[in-house]
Amino acid sequence: MNISMTVVAFSALLTAVLPISTLAQQATPLEQGKAVYLGNCAGCHGVDGGGNGPLASGMTPAPTNFKTATPTTLSDNTIQQAVLVGKPPVMRGYATILTASDINALVLHLRSLATAP
Ligand code: HEC
Repeated sequence: MNISMTVVAFSALLTAVLPISTLAQQATPLEQGKAVYLGNCAGCHGVDGGGNGPLASGMTPAPTNFKTATPTTLSDNTIQQAVLVGKPPVMRGYATILTASDINALVLHLRSLATAP
């Protein structure tokens, strides 16, 4: 194999391999949603979504319980709006903190917290 063939073969290999290795390092949307949730929301809403995080004690109104609320009362749009705008006076808005991709991932994560009806 001469040198130019080696270069062609090597760059073909790179094109084939690189996207896969990049993908392997990226979280799935559900993993992304869980990480964003644990970093920004679990303090109030609880790690498991039960509305009983360490900051929730005495909070009025109490943080929404996602184990029971998401399947029944919270549409995707309601969740996205609450995250963007916040729920004053207790919950801040995250429009300047989280990306659209983060917020879509959060919707998936909140749905995954729901206990089967
Ligand atoms: C400082 C505490 C706190 C943090 C942090 C917090 N929330 Fe909330 N959240 C609340 C409270 C309290 C309510 C209930 C507000 C109400 O009933 O008016 C609420 C309500 C909600 C609701 C229900 C909205 C509705 O219209 O019923 C959603 C969805 C929600 N939060 C998502 C999140 C997500 C996602 C995060 C993280 C990005 C987050 N919250 C972070 C305190 C918090």
